[in-house]
Amino acid sequence: MTPIFQTSTYVQEAPGKNKGYEYARSQNPTRQALEEAVAVIENGKFGLVFSSGVAATDAVIKLLAPGDEVICGNDMYGGTYRLFTKVYEKFGIRFHYVNMHDPVEIKKHLNGSTKLIWVETPTNPLMNICDITAISELSRSQGALLCVDNTFASPFLQNPLDLGADMVMHSATKYLGGHSDVIQGCLVMNDGGLREKLYFIQKSCGAVPGPMDCFLVLRGIKTLHLRMERHCSNGKKIAHWLRNHPKISKVYWPGFEDHPGYAVAKKQMRDFGGMLSFTLKEDSVENAMRVLSSTKLFSLAESLGGVESLINHPASMTHASIPREERMKYGLTDSLIRISVGIEDVDDLMHDLDAAIG
Ligand SMILES: Cc1ncc(COP(=O)(O)O)c(C=O)c1O
Repeated sequence: MTPIFQTSTYVQEAPGKNKGYEYARSQNPTRQALEEAVAVIENGKFGLVFSSGVAATDAVIKLLAPGDEVICGNDMYGGTYRLFTKVYEKFGIRFHYVNMHDPVEIKKHLNGSTKLIWVETPTNPLMNICDITAISELSRSQGALLCVDNTFASPFLQNPLDLGADMVMHSATKYLGGHSDVIQGCLVMNDGGLREKLYFIQKSCGAVPGPMDCFLVLRGIKTLHLRMERHCSNGKKIAHWLRNHPKISKVYWPGFEDHPGYAVAKKQMRDFGGMLSFTLKEDSVENAMRVLSSTKLFSLAESLGGVESLINHPASMTHASIPREERMKYGLTDSLIRISVGIEDVDDLMHDLDAAIG
């Protein structure tokens, strides 16, 4: 097993002569093993890991300078939106929040200052699908970088670098770790120059994960394929069952043939995953709260991608930082409930939801 190198520094042979490691913010062998592993599973050349998914996103934005423009989704993860609006806008970086499933919308905002396109697909929590290949053609035409947040799909279902992206980002907290016991993020890329810039940011800004956390993610990756198969089969069964439930109004899951992103999802993903959202026919916060506090197997918690099933309420939890008028515009209604389907027995999970929906 890869040892956990629990050290902050390394003994050197002589001044200026080290054994490949100087100080653990810059290098750590456990972290290095994980960086190589994440690169391999994303079909990339280089991996870098960070102390959280948000720290990985933050490193990408630090590639930019005042006056640069970013095109990103209007329904992306709330924490990414918060980082862009509350931290980086004041430094003179301009973000355009657009409907990323429509390449025409992206094209409208492309200009000489566009330096980055940020894509999340499937999106959180509405499971919208963006066409990575089509967007990569747009970013390349403008000389902008394309970074894909691949957290929801995981490398088992989708490899954005193969589809033309320059960087892949993960909240490794989710499927890569897989056991809800670690916070971590990573970036994977093919370009050596880009790797050098991002490594410089990683060591200069210091948002690196500890070796124990790297060990946990390394261990999680060993079962990623097995867990993902079960997440997908459980997710599919629950999505179809919910769709026929008399008290459910709408189910968001990209594996439905009438889902607007189905054709693209089928083209760029190997399966449809275990993340889905639904709304209640009686659309109210109170009704959603009743369901959310009645499940016994689905635990009420933020996060996703662990072996245990989780349930949450985007409007009051993960997306609380998005103003109500804004979120309503994009379909993030009051009764929208998101579930991360775990790997438990699927019949037990359906009984649990059925009893909670009532
Ligand atoms: C799609 C997506 N991206 C990024 C993040 C941020 O990752 P972390 O919580 O590891 O900082 C999350 C966390 O929920 C997420 O769901």
